[in-house]
Amino acid sequence: TQPNCLLVLELWPSDWFQLHTDLDMGNKNIKYVLAGEGAGTIFAINERTGDIHAMKRLDREEKAEYTLTAQVIDRDTNQPLEPPSEFIIKVQDINDNPPQFIEGPYKGSVPEMSQVGTSVTRVTATDADDPVYGNSARLVYSILEGQPYFSIDQTTGKVALAGMDREMREEYLVVIQAKDMGGHMGGLSGTTTVTVTLTDINDNPPKFTKGSYEFTIPEDLGIGKPGGRVKANDRDIGENAKSTYSIIGGDERDIFEIVTDAQTQEGILRLKKPLDFESKKSYNLTVVATNIRADSITGGPYMDQAMVKVIVEDADEPPVFTKSTYLFDVHENAAINTVIGAVAARDQDTTHSQVRYFIDRHTDLERQFNINVDDGKITLAKPLDRETDMWHNITVTATEVRNHSQISRATVAIKVLDINDNAPEFATEYEAFLCENGKPGKVIQTINAVDKDNPSQGHTFHYRLEMLNNPNFTIKNNLGNVIAKHDSFRRQKQDTYLLPIVVTDDGEPPMSSTNTLTIRVCGCSREGIVQSCNVEAFVLPIGLSMGALIAILACIILLLVDVLVPFSYHGLVCDIEETQERASNHQRRRGREGEHHPLR
Ligand SMILES: *[C@@H]1O[C@H](CO)[C@@H](O)[C@H](O)[C@H]1NC(C)=O
Ligand SMILES: *[C@@H]1O[C@H](CO)[C@@H](O)[C@H](O)[C@H]1NC(C)=O
Repeated sequence: TQPNCLLVLELWPSDWFQLHTDLDMGNKNIKYVLAGEGAGTIFAINERTGDIHAMKRLDREEKAEYTLTAQVIDRDTNQPLEPPSEFIIKVQDINDNPPQFIEGPYKGSVPEMSQVGTSVTRVTATDADDPVYGNSARLVYSILEGQPYFSIDQTTGKVALAGMDREMREEYLVVIQAKDMGGHMGGLSGTTTVTVTLTDINDNPPKFTKGSYEFTIPEDLGIGKPGGRVKANDRDIGENAKSTYSIIGGDERDIFEIVTDAQTQEGILRLKKPLDFESKKSYNLTVVATNIRADSITGGPYMDQAMVKVIVEDADEPPVFTKSTYLFDVHENAAINTVIGAVAARDQDTTHSQVRYFIDRHTDLERQFNINVDDGKITLAKPLDRETDMWHNITVTATEVRNHSQISRATVAIKVLDINDNAPEFATEYEAFLCENGKPGKVIQTINAVDKDNPSQGHTFHYRLEMLNNPNFTIKNNLGNVIAKHDSFRRQKQDTYLLPIVVTDDGEPPMSSTNTLTIRVCGCSREGIVQSCNVEAFVLPIGLSMGALIAILACIILLLVDVLVPFSYHGLVCDIEETQERASNHQRRRGREGEHHPLR
């Protein structure tokens, strides 16, 4: 079924056209018939004239082509007068579709201050009309709103921007139009929007809220406690707005620091060391805030500078002693109420309160010292003895009269100086032995002495016998050597000598004591080795043993009753008594009494 005839028609909707046939010569006996796609529904034919018209509106975008056949037949016989002619109706495009932005609305972002022409995004509109025929689908883009910041390439739809500052405005709504018909009059148009967000760059420096700050900080503000806050604002956002703070001048004592409050981005002024109102009352600090990120444009640091004046406020502080430890000395023989020394403390606050002094009695349990409440003079309350306590280390306190809770303490170390108040004495109890047949001039004992005092130059002792010109013994002055003067000592005559020796030190004034040296006369070998001494005497010490004491008591009792006691009995008792005789002079006397009394 090859079309015999191909008609290419460009039909406008509701338009009509005419079929021509060679047979149509005004013959009223023919009629036109139509068959094929849309015949009788979309297309109708005038039987007489062959005019074809569209029965409804044709939409090229719905169906662009129809294939139909037309034939001329005899009206009476209905016999075809010629073979059917096939023809195609092509629906011609009309611009009945506006451009459409299928993907809109759009969003885009671009760093602020980007160069002119930096691409933001690209928009695309589509047009359902015939892209081939006419200009119905020839689109032209333009910006309706958003100039002069944005530009669009009219054919590609590329949206670009001109350099803009985020800090001026962060978001722009760009309205874009696409118009067909090449943008000419009568074309259809569609619009879309592009929301453009400018992203931040660090193009703004920090800026202190004030050129100078002033803070009043109490001198007792704790280390690390905030003393004031400064703030450098930054028009940028995020990391670009962050700054660190530092002190670049006016803090020679290295007392302050500034840390950044992560929440508020404020700089917190704190103390690293304590303030002291009394030594410095104000500071002029130079502080800087520096962006943590480099300047995006120059690459250098962004910073700002401000002055911070710190006024130190006086706080009530305890009085301050002139020394933390006082060292005094006093001679041990110092009189009661002697002034040993004075402490002093001062209230350094501007109020200059009066100060009162006390001794911490826990450190002076003996109440050895007194202190004058008003002038801090320490006096002696009780006699001292260096040989008992050489140091008295006490604590004194100073309190403010105005505020008793303001207390400070100092140590007072009192050294007791030596006075020669102790006499030397024998280092031990000496007991010497002398040979009956010993040679005269022999050293029978060397005496050593000790002394509780402690003179700085050391001790020198002098020894002498209490009895001048003792016929039996002598002593070397400085060495303490006791020497026998002759060789006629006999046990039977006297077996024990009690020799009083005077020891003297060389203090000022000198002190001395008398000590007794016991010398026993013994029998010796030819070589001068001691062999036998008086046994009882040797056993008995200077004092009395328990046994001796009992014997003495027994003797006394017997003496009291001896009038009634037989004579022979008495003799036995006094035998015991006689052994005691040698031990002590006292006993000797008593023994004699016992000897005489009962006999008569
Ligand atoms: C007392 O203080 C002095 C001096 O500080 C010191 O030498 C001495 O050892 C102290 N004495 C006592 C018992 O604390
Ligand atoms: C000296 O020794 C003799 C005995 O040898 C004695 O009689 C005399 O009393 C002694 N003198 C002194 C002072 O002890």
